[in-house]
Amino acid sequence: MRSSLICAVALALLSCSGPVIISEDVLESPDKELQMCFALTSNGTPAYNLEYKGQTVIKPSKLGFELCDGTTLKDGFELEGVEFDSKDETWQPVWGEERDIRNNYNEMLVRLVRQDGVRMNIRFRLFNDGLGFRYEFPQDNKLRYFNIKEELTEFAMTGNHTAWWISGDYDTQEYNYSRTPLKGIRAASRATRLSNASATGFSDTGVQTALQLKTADGLYINIHEAAVVNYPTANLLLDDKSLVFRTWLTPDAEGIKGRMQAPCNTPWRTVMVVDDARKVLASKLILNLNEPCALEDVSWIHPVKYMGVWWEMISGKTEWSYTYDLPSVQLGVTDYSALKPHGRHGANNENVRRYIDFAAEGGFDALLIEGWNEGWEDWFGCQKDYVFDFVTPYPDFDLPALNEYAHSKGIRLVMHHETSSSTINYERHIEAAYDLMNQYGYDAVKSGYVGNIIPYGEHHYSQPIINHYLLALKKAAEHHIMVNAHEAVRPTGLCRTWPNLIGNESAMGTEYRGHINPGHTSILPFTRLQGGPMDYTPGIFEQDMSITAPGQHGKMRHTIANQLGLYVTFYSPLQMAADLPDNYERFPDAFQFIKDVAVDWEQSLYLEAEPGEYIVTARKPRLETLNKAAEGVASLADGKKDMLSGAARFVYALPEDATARNLAGARARDVWYVGGVCGEKAHECTLKFDFLNPSLRYEAVLYSDAPDADYESAPQAYTITRSEVTASDSLTVRMARGGGFALSLREL
Ligand code: NOJ
Ligand code: CA
Repeated sequence: MRSSLICAVALALLSCSGPVIISEDVLESPDKELQMCFALTSNGTPAYNLEYKGQTVIKPSKLGFELCDGTTLKDGFELEGVEFDSKDETWQPVWGEERDIRNNYNEMLVRLVRQDGVRMNIRFRLFNDGLGFRYEFPQDNKLRYFNIKEELTEFAMTGNHTAWWISGDYDTQEYNYSRTPLKGIRAASRATRLSNASATGFSDTGVQTALQLKTADGLYINIHEAAVVNYPTANLLLDDKSLVFRTWLTPDAEGIKGRMQAPCNTPWRTVMVVDDARKVLASKLILNLNEPCALEDVSWIHPVKYMGVWWEMISGKTEWSYTYDLPSVQLGVTDYSALKPHGRHGANNENVRRYIDFAAEGGFDALLIEGWNEGWEDWFGCQKDYVFDFVTPYPDFDLPALNEYAHSKGIRLVMHHETSSSTINYERHIEAAYDLMNQYGYDAVKSGYVGNIIPYGEHHYSQPIINHYLLALKKAAEHHIMVNAHEAVRPTGLCRTWPNLIGNESAMGTEYRGHINPGHTSILPFTRLQGGPMDYTPGIFEQDMSITAPGQHGKMRHTIANQLGLYVTFYSPLQMAADLPDNYERFPDAFQFIKDVAVDWEQSLYLEAEPGEYIVTARKPRLETLNKAAEGVASLADGKKDMLSGAARFVYALPEDATARNLAGARARDVWYVGGVCGEKAHECTLKFDFLNPSLRYEAVLYSDAPDADYESAPQAYTITRSEVTASDSLTVRMARGGGFALSLREL
């Protein structure tokens, strides 16, 4: 709440660097360890600074805007009033890492007005782990319709911190992260940008949110944004002399960085500050700054563990397209049944049935099938507007029959809508496309935005396209459809409001194969995952692409144990087993962990963490989810073969052929899963089992890197060890370079 304390150091800094402070107010976090000071200088410039335990973490930083009509909203303000508030509530996400999330903050609303009648309020919320603030433009305002030229929000750094960053871009975040001091960003920037189907960098010192930083004294600072709605997504532009970051918004096709109509507000700007890397992973700052769930009925939303007719196309073993006969396709005119199939089409009836069988046996919930619909012959690189209709299957894909077959085995099919970034074409077809899904009982769609955006000149992160993603999500909710959007904007916690957003890619995922650095998956939970879950598509057991797809080349840089660890370290309610059934059949004992693991959690513990180096996480599954999945399967199978999910089998200690009916009367065991991953350097961790129930004994199954495992020389060397443990035991596990481990603990 309001404090009489004055941030003396910060104010002194502001005063000597410019005009005199005429007003200041201080906000403290509930635990009083963070202090935010708002100040207005004598020329009416708003600014803030942030301290942690009395130490400055954000130096005085200016706030404001430049508008397209020449107006500036950076000075000339007077303080009309300051209001304080606070909140301490607990809410339950529909799915997540925890059953209960505490939302506890102190708030300060600063009301600013200029003599010409322009009003701009700034709302600050200070949590124990960080700050969120946003601009609000009230109704009673000289500003009504206005266009933003630049948002001027600053984040002034106190030193040349270590940064984990990807280059600023208006269209993609499919990059490896770099770790450099802030002053090293400029020199490294260009080399870090891989070629991508759509990429628009804007500066060698531009970086994306979320940006993870570490100070010389071991503080972890994370700069991000929350609730990006009807506003462009931000990058951060570093002045590498003064070490001040400025917000750098994505422009639309006309160069405008936000078209506003009062009353309105911007997304939240966030600065997390914690003294331990594990607290970054545990933080719920971004979710808490989003609005509560907008849906009344969420009974149709459920976590999904799935396989896909997918890796075979990514690896080059088969293709999305059906024929080589055509130089170009005209939907509705081209008659595919008259064309010669090239014989490499992955989404054919026979192949899909094989995957359905395999997924059902493994206790998966769903199967994704890409390349099922007409149009893939010229989908890429042509900037084609009318590229797919999302409703017409290829001649060798019998949609009704395959759905029926899948449902009879307790498997739902996941729809695929690659938009090829023609958002206008997707909007043209979206209603019919979702109707088709409803007709056949598909309840999840993977959408994709590969290539440059149409309308031409727009960007993946510009305001009109941000609005497109939300339109698709809301429409999907009307149809009771869950969404997993690839290449769409990086999420900013909107899944709290729209929990049918069960996944996003929006970072470099497994599809980049050998390009992915070993430490990538130990950085993503600090950055990309702060805004919401990622469909990273883990589970690749065969690292050598020439074995998966003869004639292809390249090797992925991880061990099998690392891929298993990801199912626990990498939170997502939508989790894929991405490799080919053939590759899993070669390692059935390791595949067992993927079958057993849950995807939705009651409680999560972050045992060890350092960005890019290692993460060790323990999670306890949420029973309701497993039971709900069992009910869903029983209704889907309509009394036929209602196979139980792998995780339910594991938790209820039922055999592999158990059905949903066997759940009645079975007793759930106390279960934990633990996962670890590491980067370029091997890492040894000591697991203390003090989180287990002290009155129980557990069977521990450890899937770890073998002593000779290494991502280069022996990526498939793993060992599986069974033992009995109690809460007073501990276990030392060594993770190889690019390695990891997975551990299941089930009450005996
Ligand atoms: C890129 C997506 O990330 C990938 O998963 C998908 O298979 C292709 N686009 C084709 O839609
Ligand atoms: Ca992608």
